Amino acid sequence: MNKAEMDALLEKDRLYCSYGDTVHYADPPKFFSGCQGSYLFDDEGTSYLDLQMWYSAVNFGYKNARLTEVLKRQIDTLPQLASQYLHREKVELAEKICTYMEREYGEKGRVHFNVGGSQAVEDSLKLVRNFTGKSLNFAFMGGYHGRTLGASAITSSYRYRRRYGHFSDRAHFVPFPYCFRCPYSMKPDSCDMYCHKEFEKLFDTEYNSFWDDKVGECEYSAFYVETIQGTGGYVIPPATYMQKLAATLKKRNVLLVVDEIQMGVYRTGKLWSWEHFGIVPDVFVFGKAITNGLNPISGIWAREELISPQKFPPGSTHSTFASNPLGTAVALEVLKMAEEEDIGAQVMERGSYFLKQIQALKSRWKVIGEVSGLGLALRIELCEPDGFTPSRKLADRLFNEGLLGNIDLNGKKYGLVLDIGGYYKNVITLAPNLMISESEIDLGMQLLEALLHRVGAS
Ligand SMILES: Cc1ncc(COP(=O)(O)O)c(C=O)c1O
Repeated sequence: MNKAEMDALLEKDRLYCSYGDTVHYADPPKFFSGCQGSYLFDDEGTSYLDLQMWYSAVNFGYKNARLTEVLKRQIDTLPQLASQYLHREKVELAEKICTYMEREYGEKGRVHFNVGGSQAVEDSLKLVRNFTGKSLNFAFMGGYHGRTLGASAITSSYRYRRRYGHFSDRAHFVPFPYCFRCPYSMKPDSCDMYCHKEFEKLFDTEYNSFWDDKVGECEYSAFYVETIQGTGGYVIPPATYMQKLAATLKKRNVLLVVDEIQMGVYRTGKLWSWEHFGIVPDVFVFGKAITNGLNPISGIWAREELISPQKFPPGSTHSTFASNPLGTAVALEVLKMAEEEDIGAQVMERGSYFLKQIQALKSRWKVIGEVSGLGLALRIELCEPDGFTPSRKLADRLFNEGLLGNIDLNGKKYGLVLDIGGYYKNVITLAPNLMISESEIDLGMQLLEALLHRVGAS
């Protein structure tokens, strides 16, 4: 595409496309025309190493041959079918997720499908309301669960609710154990999990407004959790926090719902990120990478008690494309492939290599305040040279410069695709291809360091 064609398209975008369905973040806006593995390509053939893979939807690499082949095969056999009828892949996919839960955790349950992450969150909200008869939930500050109305009510940012009237079911937002910036200004080695104790205090007396001791009931039905916050900046909680939280919730008859939409499907080295933390949720929600970003499928798994056909009968929620055959066929193959290739172990190995590289990077740059990671969900927190004051400006500059596609390295031009998240929009949230090679990780570090030099960071 030449410059004139691109300008004409940009003008049409300006005239005809709603800006409400995007985040319009890149400046200038960026066109891509091809992809493969860990790379996106522009019209000039410049390679952009992608370290965020469509917000962790493309965990197994762009144009993954095995998954693309299955999609093509399904297109040639049964590409379309109403959810009212059955097809093999839907049933086998649900079976695979449920038998995993039975085998690993002794929990019987069922899977319920939808198309996007937010829609599956909506379904889970209905499921929880249906089971408990209550409409209020706890959720974390810094949490993100999507932008439909129900999901916005449990997503902490007021920005996503501000223009849409009153949310009577707005969640009660609880501080997340974000130890680098502890909401209570404590230190992890001496806090004795103060944040959890503060949460427990809500149930001390009925006058705290949450708990009726006479009947042993909480006014809130569920706690919506991302075990590792995604949009919140890939914040990893202390090892025992989630277990303590789960114990409190059990004692107070509050359901635990884990949102695995961004961290699920091996991003952290396990199928579901909650598996690292010694907890088993009552419900979990998945989406994104379950189809490697191909024809979308999302869904929820719930304990039998909540989702049995007697409790949650046909039509409780339904969407035309819910268990579409293209999506279920790819999702089934994703899970088969991950098992056969022992993806979990590979992710832990590559993740530990990647973490070492970003730790080394931190030692060279004062503006990097903190780095951490679990599997291939990694974070680089950008700050002023004091190593603590958040620097959104620096994050924005690196993001935009990476997309210019003009980093010279070994006689070749590269771009770098990053995503910025975090409470202060100052965190590079790294979600690379789970198949990324060590040499690609090294390349990523060289490109990032070149950008840090370019913007004059210290
Ligand atoms: C943790 C989490 N929950 C929910 C969503 C919403 O999913 P979707 O954008 O597919 O509606 C996202 C999307 O980024 C997410 O990261």
